[in-house]
Amino acid sequence: MKKQLIRESNLQSFCQGNTLYLQPGYILSPGALDKARDLGIKVCRNDEAVGNEHPSAVVAEFASQAMSAGHEFIMPRQSLLGFGCLNKGIERLKSLNCKKVLVVTDAVLNQTGLVGTVTDRFSARGIVSVVYDGTQPNPTTTNVSEGLSILKRHQCDAVVSLGGGSPHDCAKAIALLATNGGEVADYEGVDKSTHPCLPLVAINTTAGTASEMTRFCIITNERSHIKMAIVDQNVTPAIAINDPELMLGMPASLTAATGMDALTHGVEAFLSSSASPVTDAVASKAIKLVAEYLPRAVKDGADREAREQMAYAQYMAGMAFNSGGLGYVHAMAHQLGGVYGLPHGVCNAVLLPHVMMYNLSTSAEKLSDIARYMGCDVYGMDAHNAAVLGIKAVCKLLLEVGVPGGLSELGVKAEDIPLMAINALRDACAATNPRQGTQAEIEQIFKNAL
Ligand SMILES: NC(=O)c1ccc[n+]([C@@H]2O[C@H](COP(=O)([O-])OP(=O)(O)OC[C@H]3O[C@@H](n4cnc5c(N)ncnc54)[C@H](O)[C@@H]3O)[C@@H](O)[C@H]2O)c1
Ligand SMILES: [Zn+2]
Repeated sequence: MKKQLIRESNLQSFCQGNTLYLQPGYILSPGALDKARDLGIKVCRNDEAVGNEHPSAVVAEFASQAMSAGHEFIMPRQSLLGFGCLNKGIERLKSLNCKKVLVVTDAVLNQTGLVGTVTDRFSARGIVSVVYDGTQPNPTTTNVSEGLSILKRHQCDAVVSLGGGSPHDCAKAIALLATNGGEVADYEGVDKSTHPCLPLVAINTTAGTASEMTRFCIITNERSHIKMAIVDQNVTPAIAINDPELMLGMPASLTAATGMDALTHGVEAFLSSSASPVTDAVASKAIKLVAEYLPRAVKDGADREAREQMAYAQYMAGMAFNSGGLGYVHAMAHQLGGVYGLPHGVCNAVLLPHVMMYNLSTSAEKLSDIARYMGCDVYGMDAHNAAVLGIKAVCKLLLEVGVPGGLSELGVKAEDIPLMAINALRDACAATNPRQGTQAEIEQIFKNAL
């Protein structure tokens, strides 16, 4: 559907009195949103007022996508999962016939020797590579520019990401800018690019973000401390590799945080206003697998069955949110990542039960399904009570895997909450939360999680 942009200049021609009814296919520019706020104009979608805390143009775009007919499913061309699949993945990389690949990773994985082991296997198969290992957790626009300049200097014609969500997202942005030009901010929003990115192969080492298979790319704007969401089918890796052998070395705290990220993806996609039977199927299986195998993987990192099942769980949770979208947990966690640099999985884990509780009034039935997937016995219970049991099961899992109990422990300050709440409502993930809230409600969720 071709989108019509409402700008500051023509805003008032779309208003009826003090209200702007945003029709599907129309999006608001950020300037128009600010002007609407200044003039006290209410923005309504589907005849429902969303108040004066306007979502950004990106959110409006997501909302109009969610309202359009049908669902879209975007996946890598090839996905390899299971112990030993890395070797097959390298064969597939070789068949892309690239002259030189840029390996995007981080310093820790380089120091552990993992990067050397993988690039040695590349060399053994005649694949020439050059390494950029400057990716930070919550990767920044600077990381992307550094990687891009190495890519250009060495005339690389393909990109391999090796690591967790941070190297994958950094690599996606590098591969996208290499073919489309401009800056990361130009691609914030949905499908803003015009050309496919360079061939991109993602080798995953956490379980996880599922970034190795999604169309999402999250990059922190260092000036504003906001995590920008680039949602673009052109950043979907061509090949996604999940070899659990590479995940065995994750320490317990990283296993717990990344595993809770996967659970959050499953829960948010399942509750999303844009969920479908397809995303429900994979989200529910992902939730079941995390509930069963995450405690085992945290307790014993060498438990190969648990590692493998977590690799599948996070991949399926990725399939679910890549099409079904996310919700307020992610919209709010992105603010904590941007402002304090906190690990993404930990932020999600702490916020998850609080947002589930907030969604109880609109989503009791689905939350009661989640209770069953979490292994609760809800026989004979009404939906509300079963849903509450499910939320308690999430809290029990958090305790079991040792996630911090609240945001204050992580250094989050009450005075930062109002701005974070405003920006959470502007985050692209907010659009598909099943209950749409006000700034004051988001502030309250943050406070509950302190
Ligand atoms: N694009 C998407 O679809 C998507 C989805 C969710 C999250 N994200 C983003 O992903 C990022 C978080 O990624 P993450 O949680 O995977 O962590 P990460 O990539 O930031 O890595 C965290 C730390 O773990 C280390 N590490 C990675 N694998 C390891 C292993 N096997 N053994 C030991 N140490 C290992 C890394 O070196 C790093 O120090 C955030 O920026 C988040 O916004 C992206
Ligand atoms: Zn996530």
